[in-house]
Amino acid sequence: MSDQVILETRNLCKVFRAGKSEVRAVDDLSVSIAAGSFTALTGPSGCGKTTLLSLLGALDRPSSGQVFFLGRELSRYSDVELARLRRRMGFVFQNFSLIAGLPVWDNITYPLIPRGVGRRERRDIAAQMLARFGLDDKADRSPSELSGGEQQRVALARALAGQPDIILADEPISNLDPVNSAAVMSCLQQIHAEGKTVVLSVHEPAIAPPGSRVISMAGGRIQREEIR
Ligand SMILES: Nc1ncnc2c1ncn2[C@@H]1O[C@H](COP(=O)(O)OP(=O)(O)OP(=O)(O)O)[C@@H](O)[C@H]1O
Ligand SMILES: [Mg+2]
Repeated sequence: MSDQVILETRNLCKVFRAGKSEVRAVDDLSVSIAAGSFTALTGPSGCGKTTLLSLLGALDRPSSGQVFFLGRELSRYSDVELARLRRRMGFVFQNFSLIAGLPVWDNITYPLIPRGVGRRERRDIAAQMLARFGLDDKADRSPSELSGGEQQRVALARALAGQPDIILADEPISNLDPVNSAAVMSCLQQIHAEGKTVVLSVHEPAIAPPGSRVISMAGGRIQREEIR
């Protein structure tokens, strides 16, 4: 593992206002994520995990403070540069966000269309990803015909199809049974073993693999952290 920092936040704040009340979803949070590391964010519902992941992934803008990708602050990126940056990141959302009307292979590779990857090559890439996640026979299925664990693996396959440097996964095993959870976690460990940086949120930190960094959040802040 290198000591290079791929993502860093400094005094990061995200404040949501609803009428007179305000929520400090992320509150003065500073953290560095080393390239090639495996980090699990944990903490009670509402502690800011999803908000932090969206800020790290440049899907949302901070209220104050900064996020750096390889040392460069995100607010200094132009829109075109931000779009290019997001291609280096793979997202897995809590609700899978698969598209119902598209077969599995297309769900995995449609993000490659704007990059000029043709249909045939996309089918090949999808086939490789499906083989790797044990879903060889599912390419032409609709997402609704898959189990929750299978859908979650398709979402991971899509996140990886563009060969990102970093995977950001928001509760990738929530709502999965133990067998499917283990399958998805083992996919994530495999991705990490190939040198990618993995940051995920989990309700149950015990599932984080040995050697991973577990960051416990509360009220938008880091409460403590440990190496498992
Ligand atoms: N768009 C929004 N508008 C207003 N408040 C928001 C918004 N998004 C999040 N919040 C609030 O910010 C806080 C952090 O939310 P966040 O979704 O980051 O928590 P979380 O740790 O991911 O929770 P969970 O474990 O339930 O997914 C919560 O109090 C939430 O209600
Ligand atoms: Mg969340």
